[in-house]
Amino acid sequence: MRVLSGIQPTGHVHLGNYLGAIRGWVEDQHHYDSFFTVVDLHAITQDQDPAELSAAVLELYATLLGSGLDPELSTIFAQSQLNEHPALAWLLECTATYGELHRMTQFKDKGKGSESVRAGLFTYPVLMAADILLYQADRVPVGEDQKQHLELTRDLAIRFNHRFGETFVIPEPAIPKVAARVMDLQSPERKMSKSQATPLGILYVLDRPEEIKKKISRAVTDAESQAAYDPSKRPGVSNLLEIFAAVSGTHPAQIAERYSSYGTLKADLTAALVAELEPVRLRTEEYLADRAELVRIMNHGAEKARAVAAPTLARAKEAMGFIVG
Ligand code: TYM
Repeated sequence: MRVLSGIQPTGHVHLGNYLGAIRGWVEDQHHYDSFFTVVDLHAITQDQDPAELSAAVLELYATLLGSGLDPELSTIFAQSQLNEHPALAWLLECTATYGELHRMTQFKDKGKGSESVRAGLFTYPVLMAADILLYQADRVPVGEDQKQHLELTRDLAIRFNHRFGETFVIPEPAIPKVAARVMDLQSPERKMSKSQATPLGILYVLDRPEEIKKKISRAVTDAESQAAYDPSKRPGVSNLLEIFAAVSGTHPAQIAERYSSYGTLKADLTAALVAELEPVRLRTEEYLADRAELVRIMNHGAEKARAVAAPTLARAKEAMGFIVG
């Protein structure tokens, strides 16, 4: 069984990325043939300063290693290192329709109907499909917000196989049971997101203990006195319970039973988060201190990725009628 997933180098990695995706990847690498990619080509669907982009790619790559992804167990690379990704995306774009891309809710949210929205933002989900299909991935671990993109990927793969002959494995999404949608700590009706960050609402994996403490202690709850897990009626406290459950490997309702005061809940959650994230931060800093070594690991990952991606691209091109080799 093969796994592939990706993350954008836009802004710092937040708790939603970590609990919704990265922690599961670290587990998956022990059980599956695993591929993880920093999707820097996706990042340029919105304006990026070149110097900031390269710093963000290295920081994200180091954070993945710091979180426990092991370059010996997994293949970890940056999407832009392989021309196979945009090449397959083009082939798939010519099978996708305007209508199906237009229905993507993430495009509608980010594009907001503006004429100046980049064409790349519109075709973004097809590049994501290419990321997945190039590796013949069976399983794609993602947070809930990527579900619709996964459905499109499946539709495109099924259509391609039907039209041009069996070429791609049809992937399945793997969405975690707890923390698939971590909410903003200040506006818990909204998901924690890099693009709509409120300074205190978003908790970064590289935050220092004092910042974690401040953000959790100021997190919005409600006027009730007893903790209870009820995401629709009590979104603030339910989000904290869900985060706590994800970090401690239990269920949010079980945690709720243990707390009558929000003060102790927040103090214990802070301690649990610091215990989880502080080693990640320290390891990430170590990786960031040696840029040349980081780039070496990245190049090694890209070579391993190419060994799988290049034959898939050749097969897809041949199936479509291009002269290959
Ligand atoms: P991105 O970079 O927005 O997010 C990376 C991963 O984090 C998850 N996530 C969350 N999970 C729980 N709660 C949240 N608040 C939260 N916010 C983000 C996302 O679901 C994702 O799993 N299009 C993708 C990147 C991508 C990709 C791929 C993913 C490109 N190619 C191929 C899988 C396979 C994205 O923008 O993720």
